Amino acid sequence: MDRLRIAGGRALRGAVTIAGAKNASLPALAAALLSEAPLTLRNLPAVADIGSMIGVIRALGAHVEQSDPHVAHIDAGTLLSQDAPYDTVRRMRASVLVLGPLLARFGRARVSLPGGCAIGARPVDLHIKALASLGAEIGIEGGLIVANAAGGLKGARIVLGSPSVGATETAMMAATRARGESEIINAAREPEVADLAECLIAMGARIEGAGTHRILIQGDTAFRAASHAIIPDRIEAGTYAIAAAITGGQLELTHARLEQMASVAEVLEATGVRIWPGDRGLIVEGGGGLRGVDITTEPYPGFPTDLQAQFMALMTQAEGAAMIRETVFENRFMHVPELQRLGANIALQGTSALVRGGGRLKGAEVMATDLRASVSLVLAALVAEGETVINRVYHLDRGYEQLDVKLRRCGAEVERLRG
Ligand code: EPZ
Repeated sequence: MDRLRIAGGRALRGAVTIAGAKNASLPALAAALLSEAPLTLRNLPAVADIGSMIGVIRALGAHVEQSDPHVAHIDAGTLLSQDAPYDTVRRMRASVLVLGPLLARFGRARVSLPGGCAIGARPVDLHIKALASLGAEIGIEGGLIVANAAGGLKGARIVLGSPSVGATETAMMAATRARGESEIINAAREPEVADLAECLIAMGARIEGAGTHRILIQGDTAFRAASHAIIPDRIEAGTYAIAAAITGGQLELTHARLEQMASVAEVLEATGVRIWPGDRGLIVEGGGGLRGVDITTEPYPGFPTDLQAQFMALMTQAEGAAMIRETVFENRFMHVPELQRLGANIALQGTSALVRGGGRLKGAEVMATDLRASVSLVLAALVAEGETVINRVYHLDRGYEQLDVKLRRCGAEVERLRG
C-alpha cells in the first residue's frame, strides 16, 4: 500500500486546479441508468470512487467509454441486470444510488445494503421510505434491498425525515420516471443535489426547486441524449483553502466558486484567513496569525461535515481554543487519535472536540482511516516539524485527484512511496 512522506514547514504558493465534484459525479453516473439515450459527463474527477461507480454501472450492462479520465460517454440503452450485489456495493456505499434508477426504469431492483463505514452506520431507511412513497413494494431480504413496482411508480409527496443528500437524490431520480407529479419536502440543499437536477433536466426531466428544501418533479420523462459538465468540488476547494491557511501561504483555487462555500469562507475569515475572488477562482491567503473559531457541522448551507477534519487540523495551529461539534455523522472523529500522535491537544467530549491550539506539531508515522480524516493528516503534516509518513493513502485516492502532485507544484515537500 502506498504511503506519503511529508516534510513540514513550507508555505504553499501557487495555483491549484479544482476538479469536478466527486459527490455530484456519483449520482450523475447513477442517473445515466434511467435513460435509453446516451449521456456524456464532463469534468469528472479522476479519482478511485468514480472508477468504482463506472464499474458498478458496467456490471449492470451499461457501456461506458472514457477517451479521457475526465469524460465518460455512457450508453445504458440495453441494461441486462437490475442486481447490484454485496461485493460491489460494500466497496463504495454510494453504489446504493443505482437503486432508484433501476426500480424506476425496470420496475424491480435488488441492491445490497451498503453496510456501515468508518464514519457511522449510515442507514438507507430514508431512501427506502422515499421509494415506498412512490408506490414501491420494498423490503430487506438477506442483506439485499429488494424492490418491486410491477405497475411502475406513481408520483407522490415525499417527506424526508431529515435532509439526507442521498435520499433526496434517490427520490428525485426515481420521480422522473413515476406517473404524474412528485414533491420532495425537507430535501437536501447541497449544490451536488442541484447539479444532479441540472443533469436530469439536460436529459429531459422537468424539475423545479432543486437546491431548496422543496423540489417538484414532473414524471413520465421522455429521456433524450444529453451532455452535462459536473460542478467544481467545493470540498476539495475547502481542503486547499485550509492548506494555504495552515502553512501561512497563498493559493489560487482555479474554478472554485465562492457562492458554494459561503459558510466555509465565513469561518476561515473569522480565523484571520483572507479570501477574495481572483480571475480564475478564489485566492486564499494565510499567515499573520490564526484565531480559534468554534464550528458546528450542519447540512448545507451550514459548515460541511466533509471539511470538519480538515478544519480541526487548522485549529491545532490557532491561538486559543476551538470547539468543534459534529452533528451529521455519529463517528467522525477518527482523525483525532492520529492528530494527537502528531502532538495536537484535542479533548473529545461526545460529539464535540475541544482543540487547544498554539502547540507545535511534530512529524510521526500515522494511519489514514477514511477519506477526509486522511487529508486532515496531510494538512497537519504540512505544518508539523520534521517528517510525517501517512499510511494507507488509498483512502485519499478515493476523493482527491493527484493530491501529492498538486501539493508539490505549490512547494510542498511531499513524496509518494510506492509499496
Ligand atoms: C453524502 O453522503 C456525501 N456522499 C458525504 O460525503 C457527505 O458527508 C454527506 O452527504 C453529508 O453531506 C456522497 O454524496 C456520495 P446523508 P450521504 O444521507 O448521502 C443519515 C465524502 O467524504 N441517514 O446526507 O450518505 C446518515 O447516517 C462523503 O465525500 C439516515 O439516517 O449523506 C447521516 O448521519 C462522506 N438514513 C446523515 O443522515 C438515510 O436513509 C446524513 O447522511 C440516509 C442518511
